[in-house]
Amino acid sequence: MTGAPSRDIPRIRTRHLLDFKKQGQRFSMLTSYDQFSAQIFERAGIEMLLVGDSCGTTVLGHSSTVHTRHEDILLFTSAVTRAVKRPLVVADLAFGTYQTGTRDAMKHAVELMQAGAHAVKLEGGHQVIDQVKALVEAGIPVVGHLGFTPQSEHALGGFTVQGRDGAEADKMADDALALQEAGVFALVLEMVPADLAARITEVLHIPTIGIGAGPKCDGQVLVWQDMAGLSDFNGRFVRRFAQLGAELERAASEYHREVAEGTFPSEKESF
Ligand code: KIV
Repeated sequence: MTGAPSRDIPRIRTRHLLDFKKQGQRFSMLTSYDQFSAQIFERAGIEMLLVGDSCGTTVLGHSSTVHTRHEDILLFTSAVTRAVKRPLVVADLAFGTYQTGTRDAMKHAVELMQAGAHAVKLEGGHQVIDQVKALVEAGIPVVGHLGFTPQSEHALGGFTVQGRDGAEADKMADDALALQEAGVFALVLEMVPADLAARITEVLHIPTIGIGAGPKCDGQVLVWQDMAGLSDFNGRFVRRFAQLGAELERAASEYHREVAEGTFPSEKESF
């Protein structure tokens, strides 16, 4: 089954994602950081929203998600979760809020959940297993993230596809199994060769969510500004489903011209 998921689920829960996988039903996730995009994506039927640390680069103008602060994600998480009822909202644990140990992971994840998140996401494999276990034991649903992990951009030597050679691929598959064992309910695979993502998707019973990981993942995720043509990011894995940047520029230019010409506001638009 690969059609549109049933819209009669009033609220997407982690168990629904496991059901989608069992039924071969693909699902979609988009990033969202504000009420307007969140409500539009909810109306479009998007099952999962990600208040990603990408808010640092897409909204706040940082050059890397390494600079995104926990406080920023908290603020955007509360805006998104206030705005929607149906999608499952995942919030990212920012760089430095969980790598330092289970105590920090717990503190920051609790704050994200208190801000309204339904789950948290963190990056890495074996090195974060203790953190994942602690969060899951505390009742916090966790999404894992393997492949290109942007918070390790500098250690990985830039934006590169991960798992191209045999040993790297085996390590990623091991990490995926270890994360599943530790209790993550879904796993993001970013910039991973399609055949490796397919192999990992096949062996896991939890769903994989791909971004630059080919068509065999159980779900897909994109940064919304990339998907809608608002950003100028041109990664190979991005498809632009709209040209919002061009449309917004056209609208702003028209507004600017009409103000200059004195045709806005009109009599009808005045009191
Ligand atoms: O922060 C983010 O947008 C992400 C996606 C790239 C998966 O982690």
